[in-house]
Amino acid sequence: MKNIVLGVTGSIAAYKAADIASRLVKKGFGVHVVMTPAAAEFITPLTLQTVSGNPVHLEMFRTAEKWEVEHISLAQRADLILVAPASADIIGMVAAGLAGNLLTTTIMATRAPVVFAPAMNTGMYENRVFQHWMSFLKSMGYLFIEPEEGPLACGTSGKGRLPDPEQIVAFVEQILSANQDLKDRKVLVTAGPTREHIDPVRFITNHSSGKMGFALARRAKNRGAQVTLVSGPTTIKPPDGVRVIAVETAQEMFEVVKDLFTDMDIVIKAAAVADYRPKVKESQKIKKSCSDLVLELERTPDILGYLGEHKEKQLLVGFAAETEKVLDHAREKLLRKNLDLIVANDLTMEGAGFAAETNIAVIINKKGSVRELPLMTKDKLADMILDEVVQIIKQRQEAK
Ligand code: PMT
Repeated sequence: MKNIVLGVTGSIAAYKAADIASRLVKKGFGVHVVMTPAAAEFITPLTLQTVSGNPVHLEMFRTAEKWEVEHISLAQRADLILVAPASADIIGMVAAGLAGNLLTTTIMATRAPVVFAPAMNTGMYENRVFQHWMSFLKSMGYLFIEPEEGPLACGTSGKGRLPDPEQIVAFVEQILSANQDLKDRKVLVTAGPTREHIDPVRFITNHSSGKMGFALARRAKNRGAQVTLVSGPTTIKPPDGVRVIAVETAQEMFEVVKDLFTDMDIVIKAAAVADYRPKVKESQKIKKSCSDLVLELERTPDILGYLGEHKEKQLLVGFAAETEKVLDHAREKLLRKNLDLIVANDLTMEGAGFAAETNIAVIINKKGSVRELPLMTKDKLADMILDEVVQIIKQRQEAK
């Protein structure tokens, strides 16, 4: 059963939340309502509890009979968060990164898609500050259901009415079903850095956190794929439902990926693999002396190059982490490594590349199409990369 967290905020349209919850339940979704304190002035928790069949969540700091951190458990349980009606207040708070109540903390903690259905007075809806926050949230991957025009509770008429509950439920269903376009595809994602040992206590590595690769694994899993994640050392939690194989060095990653390759449909190499390793790994810690130390380095296996040489049916996606001539270098890697798609990120741009929650990328496919994308979350970018992958699969099927 898919779980929907239904956020209800302070708006006269809050009474429609009961109809939305009831329709979702009839469609077979598990519905978990989170109300802001303002919402409880418009509709009672008891009404929403009765129609949803689940306890309504209202307060951030209550003592529960069974201890769990409520916003985290709701955020993890959600396949989708729907905020309907969404007030200007909640949208402003989420955009500003404020997390002062149970609903905003749940939205901040979730990895699931978040859909806002704004409902408010026309003047508020058209206000430039509100429009700015809404555009910003859209660029971050949040989804919006456009309000309708018509008579409003404040006595005026214009844009700002919450759409019909039936329409809102249809939108939710479409988002959840659209996400199954990789159903049963076998996807291999690599993530994180590698460590190349100098001696028992020192190694060469880079700043990769694994976030980009983990986002790809998570989104591919949510879209129905069977995902294997081969990851170098990271501190972040792997997505649920994904097979994880931990490796340390480029050589280990090579061995694992090589073994899995023939069985895969799609391989996405987001890992930042070291190109060089020390020629000799000292068995004892190197002692300092008065003279300089020269380390001799040798090439690691080019994993992606190997996959490009040996690929048959597999669709191969590489990344290019660049600091100059981004497009030129990325195109050269796309050709040399025989890839279907390359995702280039310019590490010099703020908000792009290593460790950040966001990235700025250009996606180039082997037919030459170039898609320059703005700053967005790594989850959103992962979805856009997977959209391109799905497109290539469709084209291949049509060409058969
Ligand atoms: O992990 P994050 O903190 O979220 O950061 C994300 C990222 C910046 C690491 C990611 O977006 C990214 O750009 N990953 C690729 C980094 C990299 O190694 O780029 P490259 O241009 O050096 O390598 C090109 C491609 O060849 C990559 O797909 C890489 O995985 C692969 N490669 C490189 C060397 C090697 N020996 N074997 C490989 O397979």
